[in-house]
Amino acid sequence: MSTDDSRRHYIDGEWTTGTGDETFTSQNPATGEALASFHRGTEADVDRALAAAEDAYDEWRSLSHIDRAEYLWDIYHELRDRHEELGEIVTMECGKEISEGLADVTESWHMVEWAAGNARHPHGDVVPSEIASKDAYMRRKPKGVVGCITPWNFPVAIPFWHLAVTLVEGNTVVWKPAEQTPWCAHIIAEMFEDSGIPDGVFNLVQGYGDAGNAIVEDDRVETVLFTGSAEVGHKIASKVGGEPGKIAACEMGGKNAVIVTEEADLDIAVHSAVMSSFKTTGQRCVSSERLIVHEDVYDEFKKRFVDVAEDIAVGDPLEEDTFMGPLIEDDQVEKFKRYNDLAREEGANVLVDRADLGAEEIPEGHEEGHWVGPFVYEIDYDEDLRCINEEVFGPHVALLEYSGDFDEALEMHNSVDYGLAGAIISEDYRQINQFRDEAEIGLAYGNLPCIGAEVHLPFGGVKKSGNGLPSGREVIEAVTERTAWTLNNSKDIEMAQGLSADIITDE
Ligand code: UN1
Repeated sequence: MSTDDSRRHYIDGEWTTGTGDETFTSQNPATGEALASFHRGTEADVDRALAAAEDAYDEWRSLSHIDRAEYLWDIYHELRDRHEELGEIVTMECGKEISEGLADVTESWHMVEWAAGNARHPHGDVVPSEIASKDAYMRRKPKGVVGCITPWNFPVAIPFWHLAVTLVEGNTVVWKPAEQTPWCAHIIAEMFEDSGIPDGVFNLVQGYGDAGNAIVEDDRVETVLFTGSAEVGHKIASKVGGEPGKIAACEMGGKNAVIVTEEADLDIAVHSAVMSSFKTTGQRCVSSERLIVHEDVYDEFKKRFVDVAEDIAVGDPLEEDTFMGPLIEDDQVEKFKRYNDLAREEGANVLVDRADLGAEEIPEGHEEGHWVGPFVYEIDYDEDLRCINEEVFGPHVALLEYSGDFDEALEMHNSVDYGLAGAIISEDYRQINQFRDEAEIGLAYGNLPCIGAEVHLPFGGVKKSGNGLPSGREVIEAVTERTAWTLNNSKDIEMAQGLSADIITDE
């Protein structure tokens, strides 16, 4: 592919090759085939995009919420109209099986619907004042230029978690999508172009971490929204944390767990665990790599879970009878295998090892794909084991047996540094409510898999998993400033707290 065919950045309302001379290709993880080529953004490209976003800000913020939302409504319709096409591209570019590719697009228009609909909803509070003649309100205003950095695993939905509310609230945006899924990003930029959004309001710079870093480090950026790995997110959070007034809203991974108690319905338990561990080939931030199971039901659960893991359909993600597509890239395959070896070294009893699939399990014509199957093991619990503390981001699953009461399961559940998602499977409402109240996570589920959150719930974690802001409806807190506004309707000045308003002089 020649440089000229490479797709461009979208900056200040124009498609541009940018200043760099490097290009990169997006690859289909199921076939290894190159899908399209893209210009790689440089610091100078980010600089131009930020200048455009800054220039566009005053005019954009002067529109009403409802006028701004009109552009998003156009995109909402385009997402729906292009559902099948874009869902297939998601699957081709990131390897998720087709129902997940389609769901990614559905989730994106849900987010746009929420954000654009929210333009007509109340945006602040009317607060009583101690002084009857005063009106007090909480109002919101946009922050300015927002930098968005998004991951490959939800290449359409997560960008809209970042972009939709941010734009409706009156901010302008510079967005750097994951280098693995630039094609999806390109289509999103086409949709913004089609919507006629004013030049400079939405800017896309394709590229790698250096371009992302240029966004993070620039003083013109008031808020950085980041969803991705803990390694990068923590760097961003500590860099931005040192700058007064600037916010980094970071959503990172987890070492999530499903607890199966002695009171569990085992049909629900097995179903939920399989979905939590193997959907998206374990590559959701909310995927579960730990299954904490009570001794009374352990053997039966183990047998049933292992039976499914042995047979789970790994294959061409474009085929509807596939459950697990490939991993995203070779590095991820290596990491998965490294952690499988580590689990063995740490004493695992391996129950299922389909890490190296047989040639007959790999779909024809897909030999260059990044194929793996489930790796399932049991291991005696020790809270310091690395394999049950560190996120792998693959179908690497530990079964951990507990005895005694529910407190023990909760202690194991909460012993990791992360705190994103988790589930309890139990028919006992006391256990369920205790999990709801004491599990150290942002997304908690009862008798369900720990994946599949809806966009109008807050999506976010605690501890090392993030501060819960760059997603769903809560993003509004990161991309707006609140003003406490008090207006006096009287000719006299009267103060709250009984504070004297008398001016006393020596005269
Ligand atoms: C992610 O895990 O990376 O809750 C995002 C879910 C999806 C989003 C997941 N709505 O599973």
